[in-house]
Amino acid sequence: MGLTHAEAVAADAADPLRPLRARFHLPAGLIYLDGNSLGPLPQAADLRQQKVVREEWGESLIRSWNVHGWIDSPQRIGAKIAPLIGARPHEVIVTDSTSVNLFKLLTAAARLSDRPALISESGNFHTDLHIASGVADLMRLRLDVVARQEVEARIGDDTNLLLLTHVHYKTAERFDMEAVTRRAKAAGALTVWDLSHSVGAVPLHLNESGAELAVGCGYKYLNGGPGAPAFLYVAEHLQERLVSPLRGWMGHAAPFDFTDDYVPARGIDRFLAGTPPILGLAALESGIDTFDGVSMERLWAKSIALFDVFHGLVEARCPELICISPRGPDQRGSHISFRHPHAFELCQALIAEQVIGDFRAPDVIRFGLTPLYLGFEDIWHAVDRMARILETESWREPRFAVRGKVT
Ligand SMILES: Cc1ncc(COP(=O)(O)O)c(C=O)c1O
Repeated sequence: MGLTHAEAVAADAADPLRPLRARFHLPAGLIYLDGNSLGPLPQAADLRQQKVVREEWGESLIRSWNVHGWIDSPQRIGAKIAPLIGARPHEVIVTDSTSVNLFKLLTAAARLSDRPALISESGNFHTDLHIASGVADLMRLRLDVVARQEVEARIGDDTNLLLLTHVHYKTAERFDMEAVTRRAKAAGALTVWDLSHSVGAVPLHLNESGAELAVGCGYKYLNGGPGAPAFLYVAEHLQERLVSPLRGWMGHAAPFDFTDDYVPARGIDRFLAGTPPILGLAALESGIDTFDGVSMERLWAKSIALFDVFHGLVEARCPELICISPRGPDQRGSHISFRHPHAFELCQALIAEQVIGDFRAPDVIRFGLTPLYLGFEDIWHAVDRMARILETESWREPRFAVRGKVT
């Protein structure tokens, strides 16, 4: 049967995190279950953009690099991400995209050893596998892409590096970061973690887990805006041993000395490449500030409750949907995914009913559970509308089969 509508309303009224929803601009009547793809607009981002554009760019112009602290924003915003991932402030920097950061860390790390194998998971997010294959070509490594269950067993004397996505983009399955890192370290290998579906979604303890290298996305759970810059993490003890393959001037020890020779900056700064994108960074900072004053543990507790309600309602009302996300909170992230042979059409029909989730080819419909701005009544209405669409088969309308460039 699942939660009743009245119970959902009561759960929202009793939810101490409910006021956080006011930190976002959420279109009236829309139920947004896609914050795992693109977080909504933080209220503060609007004003902040106006300030950066009109006052800083408009009035202070180039002086803003110093007087408005533009030049330090990659480090300052990295330091704000650090507590969300259980790292120290000087171990995180915001720069480039996740794909580019993967390239930089994999290439830099691969140089530390002459072992031949780079291991990743089959069905990993494709950018990870594409970047890994490029790095393997460049560094003359063998890319071993193996099934999830075989990853740990595959680690051996020949393993140079592992590239793993902590929370799977499709199923939400989560690796045990501490156990895998321990196993890799015992074999003498380094691990690069992609935290794109973990950061701002599940509590992370990179230092405590022994994690040494990671990248993550700014535009999903961090609410940093479309195409927001990404971040990278390098454990302090590795920073001086790694040199970025992209030797841009911003990663130089003294960019304004304009010297011919490349001398990497000390610490995490060496992973900068070109000029930081200030408008994007300012939006990302507003996104990260939406987490102010609330711990990831509290958000995670609400995420678990949202998941259970979603799962229970779908089980009761949409039995044709097969849940592919693990039930156990320790084994998953903060989204819930289902298989349905017409997942694309179903997703489009839901969007027409003001419920935005997303489709992942070939047959998965996915919903992000974001406790900062979602409530139990949202979940109730989303499943109610989905149940009606399935019951009436309204997803069969031809307009729901039309695919745009972005699906
Ligand atoms: C696991 C994972 N890595 C990386 C990305 C995107 O990387 P980029 O910042 O290069 O677009 C995504 C986007 O969905 C993702 O799911």
